Amino acid sequence: MSTLIDAQVAQLRQQIAGADALDILRAVAAEFGGKATFSTSFGLEDQVITHLIFAHDLPIEVFTLDTGRNFQETYSTWSKTVLKYGKTIRAYYPNQDEVAALVERQGPNGFYESVDARKACCHVRKVEPLSRALTGKAAWVTGIRSEQSANRTGMHAVEWDANYQLFKVNPLLDWTWEQTWAFVREYSIPHNPLHLQGFVSIGCAPCTRAIKPGEDFRAGRWWWEDQSAKECGLHHTAAPAEASAAVITAH
Ligand code: ADX
Ligand code: SF4
Repeated sequence: MSTLIDAQVAQLRQQIAGADALDILRAVAAEFGGKATFSTSFGLEDQVITHLIFAHDLPIEVFTLDTGRNFQETYSTWSKTVLKYGKTIRAYYPNQDEVAALVERQGPNGFYESVDARKACCHVRKVEPLSRALTGKAAWVTGIRSEQSANRTGMHAVEWDANYQLFKVNPLLDWTWEQTWAFVREYSIPHNPLHLQGFVSIGCAPCTRAIKPGEDFRAGRWWWEDQSAKECGLHHTAAPAEASAAVITAH
């Protein structure tokens, strides 16, 4: 990271220290104007952020990566959200030629065959569209919470994403699952009905299952794989040295 970026990250962290999620989003809007974007997969956390952006008319774009393999319930949540707030959620789709080549190569369900095949599918359906969605943006807001996985415990509310060359902002980083539910209930925010059937972290339908009591939050994602390294490539976690630095609180 260059010293200039280091300084900007430090300044942003200082600016939002102790701020609540709404104030973090307000700071993002003020700092980055039309160059801030929020990615939603319509999970519970994302619905909280969408609510804050739409209800407070913040100038932050909201987009989703429609992999083409989502649950029907996810599409219903998307419809309900657009209806409730009367705002636009921009959808990014995988490249047709790349999907066709992938399916020719590994079949429609090839992702079950190996980690490489699964990552290839995630790359075509999520990572490549994400790079298009983030082109020209200066700040990327996500619904990541540190509680979601060991990988995410060292993250910060504001980070520099060297991969996409922009600031990454995680306004709900320190929220608990219970706190997220309480907020959703308090403001009657539309939410994915699968959350009421044991699904916590929800991705594509063929790659997500409900979790059992006591299982890890992300145990239902790519459940057939080794549990230690289950990320799809959207999020690159901080290096250990950086991960040990102070974490900004975001309530
Ligand atoms: S993933 O990397 O395992 O798929 P996860 O489901 O935990 O990510 O979601 C973390 C954050 O990544 C979400 O809060 C959201 O900001 C973003 N995200 C994940 N999937 C999508 C998607 N399909 N479209 C847009 N954003 C997404
Ligand atoms: Fe493909 Fe599964 Fe990744 Fe979705 S989660 S992009 S279906 S491998």
